[in-house]
Amino acid sequence: MSRVAHHTAEELADLKHRAPLLRLDGVTKTFPGVKALDDVSFDVRHGEVHALLGENGAGKSTLMKVLAGVHRANSGTIHLNGEPVEVNSPLEAKARGIVLVHQELSLAPELSVAENIFLGSLPTKRFGLVSWKRLNAAATHILDRLGVKFESYDRVGDLSIANQQMVEIARALVFTPKVVVFDEPTASLTDAEKVVLFDVIAGLKKEGTGIVYISHRMDEIFTLSDRITVLRDGQTRGTLNTRDTDEDGVTRLMIGRSLDKSARKAAPEPGPVALEVKGLSCGDLFRDISFSLRRGEVVGMYGLVGAGRTEIAETIFGLRAKDGGEIRIDGAPVDISGPPDAIRHGVALAPESRKEQGLVLGMNCRDNMSLSQLDAVSRGGWLDRGAEQAIYDEYAGRLSLKAPSWRTPVRNLSGGNQQKVVLGKWLGVKPRVLIVDEPTRGIDVGSKSEIHALIRRLAAEGIAVLVISSEMPEVLAVSDRILALYHGRLAREFAAADVTEDALVQAISGL
Ligand SMILES: Nc1ncnc2c1ncn2[C@@H]1O[C@H](COP(=O)(O)OP(=O)(O)OP(=O)(O)O)[C@@H](O)[C@H]1O
Ligand SMILES: [Mg+2]
Repeated sequence: MSRVAHHTAEELADLKHRAPLLRLDGVTKTFPGVKALDDVSFDVRHGEVHALLGENGAGKSTLMKVLAGVHRANSGTIHLNGEPVEVNSPLEAKARGIVLVHQELSLAPELSVAENIFLGSLPTKRFGLVSWKRLNAAATHILDRLGVKFESYDRVGDLSIANQQMVEIARALVFTPKVVVFDEPTASLTDAEKVVLFDVIAGLKKEGTGIVYISHRMDEIFTLSDRITVLRDGQTRGTLNTRDTDEDGVTRLMIGRSLDKSARKAAPEPGPVALEVKGLSCGDLFRDISFSLRRGEVVGMYGLVGAGRTEIAETIFGLRAKDGGEIRIDGAPVDISGPPDAIRHGVALAPESRKEQGLVLGMNCRDNMSLSQLDAVSRGGWLDRGAEQAIYDEYAGRLSLKAPSWRTPVRNLSGGNQQKVVLGKWLGVKPRVLIVDEPTRGIDVGSKSEIHALIRRLAAEGIAVLVISSEMPEVLAVSDRILALYHGRLAREFAAADVTEDALVQAISGL
């Protein structure tokens, strides 16, 4: 498990002149009804961060799964250090030094952190018995490097999503890898964890490791990458040196146009108060939260990961019990002791973690969307397929869902398109109050602005919308008012018209 010695600058320069560390040529991959990759070529140099960019469903994860032996390509070749190689399984990929940090967490929740890190390669004693002492020591060594706050013997299922992501990253670092692929690694990380991850990437670079970095966050791509390759509809649109391009340049390659950043039209006068929260408290998670949401209004709830935003939403939706305070809907106090109560009162919550709370992966797209509204689609105990289909058609269209058909199991959609199904599912409830938690996590820049426009349109139709987000541009783009949260408390409230970025940053950092 020892790390290789760092290369000197000259050695690295020399490595860079040789054949690329990794080369994929003419990779084609079809799934039933979908050509996910069409003759894609791509290479990674020693000590390079190569960003892979493209819309949801463009084929990024599929290309990397071909590389990591998860999928068999229909055609195409892989060269490692100039030698042709076959990668027929994830284990074979790992043996060749190719590791993939998955976009969708792929951990075993029942096992410990250490077992997950070493899954498939547990250190054994004689007779094949697992050496727990060595296992935990080795895991702790890697976890220390990542500066995490959990232990090697903790059960993975008990960790937060962010910490599970860190375990997924730890797993990639076990056997001095040659190529590491990060598929949207920061989607659920806090800023502090991101800093650690970026340090890890810088360290890998110094050792000459080739890194593929997939993200929809342009700031990360421009901070980290040396080159950028853009995929569109399964084809390569070009590879650029990062320093020779900018966000607008790659966005045009990605979606075929520049983003419309025109100012949003002035909001109409909001209607009566739909939701009022007074002095809401829940243990150490948040205290004394008071705010109101009017019909026709979008309120942004902004704060760092861990500030209590999601917990507040979960309490309003009945997933958590409050230990103080009051919730009023349309002026009347309500008792919400579970999601069915919330839905009955017209409150919907699109949760932040699609896999854990939002979707049944084996079920098709249409049925997933109508899951939350069985009332609307059942007539006398029978499911009304026509009504289900109408809901699906409407929201698949409004969200530009990219799925081969309504019959496709959600599992087979790209990550961003899964997120769109979660949104569609809750929008279809036609709620009075809609809470969306990180609505565009994992969504590409083009669809992001479509979803922002959709949220504005829903408000204009009379819904009161609360948008929880850790992305400032998002909060600024959609909100009429912004609630800034710091450590479980409402630090400040701003009108969108006169908020500044500095003031927002100060409010959420407790300054
Ligand atoms: N296991 C599968 N079975 C069938 N189709 C699949 C499967 N995996 C991916 N696809 C399809 O292949 C295409 C490319 O998907 P992929 O996951 O590679 O997109 P992506 O670029 O990673 O998108 P995102 O940014 O949303 O993660 C999509 O149309 C997707 O629906
Ligand atoms: Mg993907």
